[in-house]
Amino acid sequence: MIVSKPQVLVTRRIPSATLATLEQACDVEVYDQGDLPHNELIARVPGRQGLLSVVTDTIDRAVFDAGRDLKVVATIAVGYNNIDLTSARERGVVVTNTPDVLTEAAADLTWSLILAMTRRIVEGDRLVRRGGWRGFALDFMLGTDLRGKQLGVVGFGRIGKAVAERAQAFGMRVAYSSRSQQSSSLGESMSLDRLLSTSHVVSLHCPLTPETTHLINQRTLARMRRGAYLVNASRGPVVDEAALVWALEGGLIAGAALDVYEREPAIHQGLLSLENVVLSPHLGSSTIETRTTMIQLAAQNIVAVLSGQPALTPI
Ligand code: GLV
Repeated sequence: MIVSKPQVLVTRRIPSATLATLEQACDVEVYDQGDLPHNELIARVPGRQGLLSVVTDTIDRAVFDAGRDLKVVATIAVGYNNIDLTSARERGVVVTNTPDVLTEAAADLTWSLILAMTRRIVEGDRLVRRGGWRGFALDFMLGTDLRGKQLGVVGFGRIGKAVAERAQAFGMRVAYSSRSQQSSSLGESMSLDRLLSTSHVVSLHCPLTPETTHLINQRTLARMRRGAYLVNASRGPVVDEAALVWALEGGLIAGAALDVYEREPAIHQGLLSLENVVLSPHLGSSTIETRTTMIQLAAQNIVAVLSGQPALTPI
């Protein structure tokens, strides 16, 4: 008797070693033409027990309606705001993410942004490339020291804590705000309002939820210290981009560095023309080592659930 393998849809090309592992236990279809359009996802999900997906796949009720046989959705990301967990629970579909393995990469990227922004690295690079550098001058392109200043970490989960740990190396004290009001030796817990009004650099590390959508808006930006900087490597919609442009153009804050955007890959026009903004293209976890490990972990979750084992990292 031939026992058929479970069917798995993979929404992006993945490394061949991970694909091989997956193929030992499952029949795999890989969509390898870039972004999988939502209607294509709905067309391809019927009959699949497993779905290996990425942050830009919207796994909403329509996908669960079409994917009646789904048993597991494994996203290659820590954030899972793109997945309708209510629909998943109603149907008993296990949803997994890839926490921990990307914490250090995300914290490093955050610090790259903080340093690039406060030391004007990208602005300087642009100037050099367009032939605008006239040589050393004592008052040329001055940035801002970090030592002795306060880093405000909004959202104190794994990544927020890893960012806070690194602050010590730069001589910054840490303030943090979190839903859980936990205490930590890494810094001082405070309300968001106080954090915003006292921090020199504010870095966002909260998940995207209805409560955190546009957490940074005209009102909260106006609460920030004059001359402060904002960093967002969490999820784009945590920041109201139009409000951020308003705050930057009005000189309310000194600069911003963003790795994520409200409507990726589109970016608010106002941000593109400002020199004091660093823009990176959603690179938080994008190192060779981290991405390889994330993809492996997501595949292991698929294999575990489809072979009747508990998921390694269920949500
Ligand atoms: C990427 O953005 C992630 O959530 O891992």
